[in-house]
Amino acid sequence: MNNQTDAGVRSPATEAPAWWKTAVVYQIYPRSFADSDGDGIGDLPGITSRLDYLVQLGVDVIWLSPVYRSPQDDMGYDISDYQDIDSTYGTLDDFDALLAAVHQRGMRLIMDLVVNHTSDEHPWFVESRSSRDNPKRDWYWWRPARSGMRAGDPGAEPTNWGSAFSGSVWELDETSGEYYLHLFSRKQPDLNWENPEVRQAVYAMMRWWLDRGVDGFRMDVINFISKDPALPDGHTRRGGRYGDGRDHYLCGPRIHEFLREMHDEVFAQRTGELLTVGEMPGVTVAEAVLFTDPVRAEVDMVFQFEHVSLDEGAIKWDLQPFQLLDLKGSFGRWQAGLAEVGWNSLYWNNHDQPRVVSRFGNDGSHRVLAATMLATVLHLHRGTPYIYQGEELGMTNAPFDSIDDFRDIESVNHYAEALASGRSPDEILRGLRAKSRDNARTPMQWDDTPQAGFTTGTPWIAVNPNHTEINAAAAVSDQDSTFHYYRRLIELRHTEPAVAHGDFTMHAAHDENVYAFVRRANDVQLLVLGNFSDEVSRVRIPDAAQWQTAEVLISNYVAAAESDELAGAEDEIVLRPWEALVYRRPDNPLTASSPGGP
Ligand code: GLC
Repeated sequence: MNNQTDAGVRSPATEAPAWWKTAVVYQIYPRSFADSDGDGIGDLPGITSRLDYLVQLGVDVIWLSPVYRSPQDDMGYDISDYQDIDSTYGTLDDFDALLAAVHQRGMRLIMDLVVNHTSDEHPWFVESRSSRDNPKRDWYWWRPARSGMRAGDPGAEPTNWGSAFSGSVWELDETSGEYYLHLFSRKQPDLNWENPEVRQAVYAMMRWWLDRGVDGFRMDVINFISKDPALPDGHTRRGGRYGDGRDHYLCGPRIHEFLREMHDEVFAQRTGELLTVGEMPGVTVAEAVLFTDPVRAEVDMVFQFEHVSLDEGAIKWDLQPFQLLDLKGSFGRWQAGLAEVGWNSLYWNNHDQPRVVSRFGNDGSHRVLAATMLATVLHLHRGTPYIYQGEELGMTNAPFDSIDDFRDIESVNHYAEALASGRSPDEILRGLRAKSRDNARTPMQWDDTPQAGFTTGTPWIAVNPNHTEINAAAAVSDQDSTFHYYRRLIELRHTEPAVAHGDFTMHAAHDENVYAFVRRANDVQLLVLGNFSDEVSRVRIPDAAQWQTAEVLISNYVAAAESDELAGAEDEIVLRPWEALVYRRPDNPLTASSPGGP
């Protein structure tokens, strides 16, 4: 967040660029990062013990996925106490020690803020469900059965919406005979943000964490908090059992008002250098401009989902081939849309996404090249890059054998529902292997010992067997590894102003194999090229010949190409399989190379 002027009105044009424009964020999923006590689950002291690894990588900010007290129905995204640490992860003292150690090393730490819903074991919900006239009844969304129907009868749910984790979004509470809304699992009841007491309770909790010293928040599904209170039915897909309620809760009627109020109540008076990023499934470019316009003071940046939806059909499990043209079209629109106002966040991976090298790259013969090429393309865009633990090692999807290998509620529920609807286990597993969130959640691969150095006990989810080859110890000691390549990319964001601040122009928009764009700051241009294929690829670029005489800022091939290997026409640049190349030259190469010229 930027500070405000005395008048309380922001004046971004006269301010220095926000600090997070040159920052790189690293996401830690605590359950799978480092286990210090041998119970098979990662914890806070484990994270503290590994901070120097992150210092070596060079990241600026850590985003910590939830460590609050939780029944772990959705691995911590179901919180039963916002102001305590779950005992599996440690204590508040362990948290303070971690935060101090992060600050001591010059990094910042942001927390996950999960306030669209709580756990059903949160005292607020326990009170709310205790009776229809409890003062906290209205803190959640309670509704009677559909008019004319009896509670509990099939189809009597107040709306037809389907939950993100299968089944209806409504759960009948037998005691009061009413249903409560849960967009996610039935153990994640949605908070009613229409109620001002709810909002004030959330803001007070946020202030408590900021007072404790945290540096901001990643806000979980924050564009779901404003719902149309009429809760109308959603459209149903042909053959689908449930309706799609998103039209009625995604970026709902009061979303901007709520975020603005949150800003005023929580952030406005603070002078620290904070960061806020809103996770916003389904957000459009036009809405993102509004959310991230600094003058409006809502959030600094948003996580959009377009590029991680390109390989799916109507639903996540409906696999579609990845097409580079779609990716370029999507990223290109986001870059253009937020060029003047607002700011992008950039990510391939997080705890909800399969591993990018397996998804859009090649996790076999060309794994290191593909991982580093993907990193180059992402990190050279305009926006703040996020790295998810293990991405810097080129970690891959996991070889899940049967449904028993999965832990994630979304995957497990989907399997049961799809099986009940008559689909074959093999077909369902094909979708899960490609898309399950558990691909991201296998333990961090620290070394080649039996549990990858993650735990001395039995890990809560199996370690990927490829840790014997892919692990941090090996990567750190190899200067040509994915790890050191990420380190160099992060350093470039810190040292080369065009990376953080330059504008963006897409090139070769119709080339099916090569991603190409130019970044341009005051006096420097960068040409970024990435070959998304196993083949040698040729791409037409204006000024190709001149560019090839420019300085190579970074490249993922160690050796230069043999000249005949890459002979191309005048206006072409030829790239080897999965090659990434970034050229740098003065903005006007003619005047720069011939000082006596015009
Ligand atoms: C977000 C989180 C995801 C969680 C869901 C419900 O999308 O990233 O892990 O399951 O919200 O909290």
